[in-house]
This record gives sequence, C-alpha cells and structure tokens, in this order.
Amino acid sequence: MSYAKLRSVGLVGVRGHLVEVEADVANGLPLVILSGLPDTALHEARDWVRAAIVNSGQHWPNRRITVNLLPAALPKSGSGFDLAVACAVLAGAGELPLAALQDVVVIGELGLDGSVQPVRGVLPMVLAAAQAGIRRVVVPLANAAEAALIPGLTVRATDTLHRLVSFVRGGGPLLDPPDEPPPELDRGPDLCDVVGQEAGRRAVEVAAAGSHHLAMLGPPGAGKTMLARRLPSILPDLDDAAALEVTALHSIAGALPPGAPLLRRPPLQSPHHTASVPALVGGGSGLARPGAVSLAHRGVLFLDEAPELSPRALEAMRQPLEEGTVNLRRTNGETSFPARIQLVLAANPCACAKPAGDLACECSPLARRRYLGRLSGPLLDRVDIQVRLEPLTAATLLDEHAASEPSSVVADRVATARAAAAARWAGHGWRSNAEVPGAVLRAPAWRLPRRTLGSVRQLLERGQLSARGYDRVLRVAWTISDLAGRSRPNEGDVCEATELRRGEVR
Ligand SMILES: Nc1ncnc2c1ncn2[C@@H]1O[C@H](COP(=O)(O)OP(=O)(O)OP(=O)(O)O)[C@@H](O)[C@H]1O
Ligand SMILES: [Mg+2]
Ligand SMILES: [Zn+2]
Repeated sequence: MSYAKLRSVGLVGVRGHLVEVEADVANGLPLVILSGLPDTALHEARDWVRAAIVNSGQHWPNRRITVNLLPAALPKSGSGFDLAVACAVLAGAGELPLAALQDVVVIGELGLDGSVQPVRGVLPMVLAAAQAGIRRVVVPLANAAEAALIPGLTVRATDTLHRLVSFVRGGGPLLDPPDEPPPELDRGPDLCDVVGQEAGRRAVEVAAAGSHHLAMLGPPGAGKTMLARRLPSILPDLDDAAALEVTALHSIAGALPPGAPLLRRPPLQSPHHTASVPALVGGGSGLARPGAVSLAHRGVLFLDEAPELSPRALEAMRQPLEEGTVNLRRTNGETSFPARIQLVLAANPCACAKPAGDLACECSPLARRRYLGRLSGPLLDRVDIQVRLEPLTAATLLDEHAASEPSSVVADRVATARAAAAARWAGHGWRSNAEVPGAVLRAPAWRLPRRTLGSVRQLLERGQLSARGYDRVLRVAWTISDLAGRSRPNEGDVCEATELRRGEVR
C-alpha cells in the first residue's frame, strides 16, 4: 500500500472539527511534504514524528512522503495530530494494516522517544467526534478520563506509539480509562467564615440572586477579598450543558484538575492585577489558550485591587463584558471563546491603601476620585451593585456568640430567587434580572408606582444618583423583591437597592 488515511480532530476556539490525515508514500528522493495549512507546530511535527517512529523500533520509509490534512481550509494548530500522522505514514509505507483503526479517531502528541503525550482540549475534540457519529477514539492515557466524560463513546488509551502499533497488528491491548469515582463537589470557602459585615454579605447574596456584577470598595482588611471568594459557594450547580462548556474551556487551557472530573461548580478566577492581557483574555502561540475571562465562563471573575490593572488590561475586558465572548485575532483568522461571567471588583478607596479617615492617609479627595475613576468607563458602567464596606469593629470580631449563616442556607434563598426571576423573564429570553434592559423596567408594563420610588427619586433629583445608576437600582430592587418572595418590589426593596449603590463612582 502506498496510500493511507486516518481520522483525527482539530480545534478552532472551543469547537472540534474532524480532520482526515492522509499519507502517500512514493518512490523518489527521500522527502517529507506536509500540506493542509499547517502552522509551525505541524512543521516541527515532521522531524518529531520521524524520531518517534524510529525510537519506537519501527522502520521509517526513506522515500517521498506526502502528508495532507483535510479539510485544507480549516486552520490547524497544536500537536494533537502527531499520532495519526505517524500511523498514516507507517500504513502508507505498507508497514501497518489500518483495518483496526477504521472509523476510529486518533488523538495524541508524540514525544521524541515514541511516548504519547497528553494534549489540551481533548474533551471538546472527543465531543466533536461523537457528534459526527464516531463511536471509538484512541487518546493519550493522561487524557483518557477526560475523554470518557462524553457518553456513548468507547475510549481506549495508549501511552506509547509502540502500544498502538502492536494493537493494530493484533499484538496487544490498548489501555482503559482509569476507573475513579467522581470526587466530591468542592464548593470552596464558606460564608460562615465571615464575621459581621452584614452589608457585604447581603451584597454578595443579592449579586448571586440576580447575577449582578458587584464592586466592593473599602479600606484594607474589611473583608472584600474574603467575601468575593465566597460568591461561588452560593451559586447553583452548573447544568449539563454548562458543565460541558466550562470543562471544555479548562481542557483547552490544560487546566483540568487531575482525574478530569466534569466541572459542576461555577468556576472562580482571580487573576492578579499584574496579569498580562493574554493571561486575562486569552491568546498565546499555536492552539489559542483561553484566558481568565473564559476560564471564569459561567462563574465569577474576581478582579482584586482592580484600579491597579493596567489601562490596556481594563480596555481588553470591555468587549468580553459586553458580548459574553472573547474574540482573539490569530495569524490564521479569528478565534473566539465564550466568556459569560459575573464580575466582582474590589478596590481600596485610594492608592495608598490606608484606611480612609486614618491619619496616615493623606490622599486628597481628588486623588481618591481619580484612583477609582480608572475603573469607571470600561468596567464600573456595567456593575449593578457598588457597595462601600466599613472596617470590622473589634467588638464584632471578638464577639464569641456571633454565628454567621453558612453558604448552604444562603444558596437556598438564592436558588429560589433565581427561579422566580427566570420564570418572570422566560418569555423575553432573559435568565436573570441583570440581563433586563433599563428601558424595559421603566416601561409601563414593569414601571413601579411613584410612592415606591420615593427614595430613589430624591437621590436622582439631588444629583446623587446618575441616570444609569437609576436603572441599576431598579434592577437590583427586583432581585431584592425576588429574595423576599414578593411579586413586585416595594418601597423598602427600592430603598435597600439604593443602599447597594452607595459606593457609586462617577
Ligand atoms: N468580616 C470578617 N470576618 C472574619 N475575618 C475577617 C473579616 N474581615 C477581615 N477578616 C480577616 O482579615 C483578613 C483580610 O481580609 P481581606 O483580605 O478579605 O480584606 P480586604 O478588604 O480584601 O483587604 P485588602 O484591601 O487589604 O485586600 C482575612 O484573611 C481575615 O482573616
Ligand atoms: Mg483584599
Ligand atoms: Zn490614601
């Protein structure tokens, strides 16, 4: 035989696409030609695959070898085609009968020594194979548990090229995915650790119930970081579709925890304020890597010390926040990753990070406004809840009888409130109050009576609330009412919503 064909899968963004790997081995000067829009990683694959074949004790055909990846128009990245290329070359040279790999998708990177190395993104690759009607896949052993998350597929694994070659020749078995019980759901740190700080706890609960973005301003040590990290603990589990989306993104980033469980809990990402733009929104060479905004998809993106982020980083966050996806410009076209996040910002009132009113802080009101003003355009404009936290008093901290509600109790209230909002807006296509446009809440169908709006009208008239802030107060008032089990916000709900806006930075 001088021609052989094998199936593999390529990734573009989060989507897998079936790829056919063809090899033709002809007489002529020893030469390897790779075609089908390969990127640099594929060019390297040429020497790599040769070394792996030779070091697996196989014969490398010293002839004219043409390897082609189809469809040609599909941008191809990464080293996940290595294993399929090696098998196709051996088969093309007549060294390997491919009957055993008919209708099987083969994924894996080769080490120079012939070992099969794990690749990023196996979950979405295998999902694409399943959706295309493929029933059997061969993957690197280290990716087998992840591949096995897709139902209806037979997953076999290999740790070396030699093992796969032996199997194809009928000489030995492939490996099975490890059979581990799924680990317990990790809900992360619990709200019961937070002493006092009623306003902060309430802000986090309301944010969770309405999917509102949240900003917490306050002096060092007030518990901003503590509260932010506990928001995921009161969010509901991800449904099947969301869990698959989230796990796929973590798979592409190579960030799945060992054992590769399906990620069932909303993720939390807290990139440091010095993080690079690619670390925040994604990028990198070869197969694009999702950044923190995409790893936080359907979960929480926590930007601590947010005013310290570079202007470029703040600007890069704008598009994902507006559209719920990140678009990355790549050499071979544009790639996009989902990025529907709940944003939590924390900030000190000024750059010196000393308690406001403290004698040690000498920052002028102007300097303080400027510091927080860095956030106002791109980010804060979309943040419904902006609270100011006061430092914890010694009395509260030392109160031995103080017991804080655990996350499980708060999570139940949140789930009920979310269900009420989802039911109300279902016909409109919105899932949470945060998604409802201000104009809708001001329109006759949903407008609140004058007496209910007393407190917020006063603030508006005195110029203490912006027009945008007004819409955000309305939205949050609906969430507070959902938490209370009311069908419409009352005056108290609106009043509390204005309190959750006290940190508004304009
Ligand atoms: N409400 C609280 N209940 C219990 N511990 C608290 C509380 N607030 C602060 N602490 C303690 O103080 C530490 C600092 O809290 P945290 O990092 O959340 O403050 P912060 O507001 O983020 O401060 P900074 O502005 O310095 O980042 C926590 O690790 C915790 O030990
Ligand atoms: Mg902090
Ligand atoms: Zn200061």
